[in-house]
Amino acid sequence: MAIQKQTKIVHPGGFSGGVVRVPGDKSISHRTALLAGISSGTSEITGFLEAEDCLNTLKAMESFGARSWIDDEGMLSVQGTGGKFIEPVGPLDVGNSGTGMRLLAGLCSGSNIQVTLTGDESLQSRPMSRIKEPLELMGAKVELTPQGTAPMSIQGGNLNGIEYRLPTASAQVKSCCILAGLYADGPTTVIEPIPTRDHTERMLRAVGAPIRVEGQKISVEGYGPKGPKFMARPYIVPGDFSSAAYWLAAAAAIPGVTVRVEGVGLNLRRTALLDVLRRMGASVEIERTSAPTDPEVYGNVTVSGAELKGTEVGGAEIPNLIDELPLVAVLGVLATGRTVIRDASELRVKESDRVAVMVENLTSLGATVTEQPDGMIIEGPTKVIPTRGIRSYGDHRIAMSMSILSIFAEEPVCIGNVACVDTSYPEFWDQLSNLGVNVE
Ligand code: S3P
Repeated sequence: MAIQKQTKIVHPGGFSGGVVRVPGDKSISHRTALLAGISSGTSEITGFLEAEDCLNTLKAMESFGARSWIDDEGMLSVQGTGGKFIEPVGPLDVGNSGTGMRLLAGLCSGSNIQVTLTGDESLQSRPMSRIKEPLELMGAKVELTPQGTAPMSIQGGNLNGIEYRLPTASAQVKSCCILAGLYADGPTTVIEPIPTRDHTERMLRAVGAPIRVEGQKISVEGYGPKGPKFMARPYIVPGDFSSAAYWLAAAAAIPGVTVRVEGVGLNLRRTALLDVLRRMGASVEIERTSAPTDPEVYGNVTVSGAELKGTEVGGAEIPNLIDELPLVAVLGVLATGRTVIRDASELRVKESDRVAVMVENLTSLGATVTEQPDGMIIEGPTKVIPTRGIRSYGDHRIAMSMSILSIFAEEPVCIGNVACVDTSYPEFWDQLSNLGVNVE
């Protein structure tokens, strides 16, 4: 039974479009769990993503002394620690989530406790030296395996502020440094090589933290070892653009089909896929419904399909669609002409090596793809004919992106190891069926 549950067969055709709501933003949900967890009092969070990754972060905050409960309407309440962490007994397992591990590591470094953070096989293979370096410069003690991976043990406390130039564009590393910086003596400044998603900065500004952003330089004034005294407050988590992306991409590739996603996050550092869809020929309309005072921009997006043409993505656009790049590759197979993804070597250290895994899976469906060190080149369009089942390698974005390509196949496609989808989008398969696709 378990084996069956982990495999889906997606039948071609049927995608009819329509109006969709997607669950809460994963990045923002992680950050609300952390901020509510260090605040005093009970914060109410509307739209929190109840998926494995964020629930693991919440569980970690509970092991530091926070409490949380979810009511019948899905409203999450978090009673914060007031900033004083209990030292947890045994290692904390954060599952599959790089965001959870790297952001929690920042917080733990500021607290005077010893913590070991670990995760699943995928997370234990991902690079953590990128956070060890700045955290140790600040004064924390961080131990990793000889390969620079988790389990990661942290002895926190007594941090000093640093100025740190990020070697790679990573919102997770940036956020880790900023969160640790809240507990440091003096200011902490992080300089980004390319702007990345800024949810941490927006949220800290909303809770009144002394954070300053000047171009690609982000500075936070440390509160010292006692840390900040944030008060509980309400949070609204908009829908996740990265989840909406699957439906928007599917619609974009079918002339005559329209998808409208309502209540979705529209932070410009997340929505570069919309520019790509426009360049490829689809029609995109954006309607902002958030108030100018809301920390995050959100609203409705409508995409209508067209005969797509190939495009190039690279440079500063990459961080703004980093999680949508497997979908861009899918669209490249369906579009006429050449699609190039470059400057995206970070894709190789996500939940799987997304360059290698996408090239392997696209090839097995008949696509013409060339692997590059920092991306891939796809010549389209090709007929999508399965020669074998799809391997997700336990990576949710691979499983979901390949199921979108399966809609365009000549025969049903079997996608293996799909339990990983629950880390970010448990409703994905139901939603795919609601939009007209036959899924077994
Ligand atoms: C995230 C940042 C991105 C993204 C990940 C979530 C975040 O990772 O790929 O899914 O919440 O900060 P990097 O910042 O490491 O590129």
